[in-house]
Amino acid sequence: MEKDFEGKVAIITGAASGIGRACAVELARRGANIVIVDVVGEDVMIQTSQVLREKGVRVTTFTADVTDHGKASRIITEARARMNHLDILINAAGVNADAPLWEMTESQWDRVVNINLKGTFNYIHAVARLFREQQSGKIVNIASIQALRGQFGISNYAASKAGVIGLTKSVAAELGRSNINVNAVAPGFIRTPMTERLPEKIKDEAKAEAVLGRIGEPQDVANLVAFLCSEHARHITGEVIKVDGGQFI
Ligand code: NAI
Repeated sequence: MEKDFEGKVAIITGAASGIGRACAVELARRGANIVIVDVVGEDVMIQTSQVLREKGVRVTTFTADVTDHGKASRIITEARARMNHLDILINAAGVNADAPLWEMTESQWDRVVNINLKGTFNYIHAVARLFREQQSGKIVNIASIQALRGQFGISNYAASKAGVIGLTKSVAAELGRSNINVNAVAPGFIRTPMTERLPEKIKDEAKAEAVLGRIGEPQDVANLVAFLCSEHARHITGEVIKVDGGQFI
């Protein structure tokens, strides 16, 4: 088994579930030590850490809401102290709160934009100084195909993820000379707890849209994220790469 992330440390927001968790498992399988940041309860944190430790890596956890700007910075300082260094940031924490615009409340808008966009900014901002000092780093943000096309009922979500793409490209321009790669991944419909809650009709439509005729798995996204975090992707930055089975071509 290839241990190409041996000795590396990856901090992953939203790592307790779905896509973030699959990224954590994939990087741990390939030797990376993992820092989990998630808002879930202690029991889920313990269970996720256990799965990762079984891969033979070090794991440390922080219970935090990614919208807390000051806490992001304190977590990066503490994580570095516990793990000695940080090499990779994956921003996977995210939520949806769907409604047509005319029924959307201000709190639905604020919650989705704050978690998905400001949360991503908070953690990039918190690692930027460190990554610049060490003249290395990999950042991968989880966007969505909905940032590229939009869809009925998700104006808050699509806007937040379009913001993530703009953020990714600008920060890639700013951090490139410091040898830091910043990319976004845009998944299509992926089978996770977030999408399990959606009506069957939406799942069937997503499956029918995908030219490969199936719904994606978290591992499909984790494979791409791991590639972007690896040295094989050293010359890729400021990119948005879809992993959607051809759902939006
Ligand atoms: P999920 O619900 O399984 O996992 C999201 C994780 O983020 C959970 O562990 C949750 O506790 C955490 N989280 C939520 N709010 C948080 C906060 N304020 N602070 C810290 N952690 C928080 O969802 P899934 O599907 O794995 O989503 C992961 C990312 O992928 C999200 O950014 C989502 O928008 C994105 N995505 C998902 C797609 C899908 O079809 N599942 C498609 C495209 C993008």
